[in-house]
Amino acid sequence: MSSVSSNIHPVFERILGREEKQNFLNQHSRVIWMTGLSGSGKTTLAIGLERRLNELGFLTQILDGDNIRTGINNNLGFSVEDRTENIRRIAEVSKLFIDCGVICINCFVSPTKDIRDKAKEIIGKEDFVEVYINADYELCEKRDVKGLYKKARNGEIKNFTGLDSPFDIPECPDAEIKTGEQSVEESVETLLNKILPHIKK
Ligand code: ADX
Repeated sequence: MSSVSSNIHPVFERILGREEKQNFLNQHSRVIWMTGLSGSGKTTLAIGLERRLNELGFLTQILDGDNIRTGINNNLGFSVEDRTENIRRIAEVSKLFIDCGVICINCFVSPTKDIRDKAKEIIGKEDFVEVYINADYELCEKRDVKGLYKKARNGEIKNFTGLDSPFDIPECPDAEIKTGEQSVEESVETLLNKILPHIKK
């Protein structure tokens, strides 16, 4: 291990810095970290939020669990270990985006406090904006957009979040959106207003 790391020579301080890139884009780069059950509305709200931010002149990048799991994380499943590694990689990738001045909108179940704390630690707490997309298990099961809840009930999916795998409700998120109580448009506007103070220069 040590022999490998002694051959690595990082050049972080020689690279054009985040500050210059944020100035160039006229925004503060942050990670908007959306957590919530599968089907709670994370992706839908991320898409809506990104459109609104784009109209207002902000540059963003969405990282989404289902997409990321077809590429960089296509070798990971849903055990605690794999979910932890999934989130660790995502947190590292998010850091690259914010170092580039870009606002990163992340949609990951990220089910446990431990997993989210690890992401926050990698990203840095001042750059980590936690958003709880709140729709309870019953509501998500009723929506069942991807048909996964039915499969999980039938025992066709193991370690399913909220059924036989835990979800810790965030204790003190920066924002919480109850997607069962308002329209998508209303939720996006509520979210936008919560996010703007974090990213406006
Ligand atoms: S995380 O727990 O590691 O953060 P991630 O957000 O990447 O999960 O992926 C969750 C998505 O994978 C869900 O939206 C759903 O479409 C799909 N999925 C497949 N199997 C499971 C499972 N056992 N638990 C939760 N989501 C699953």
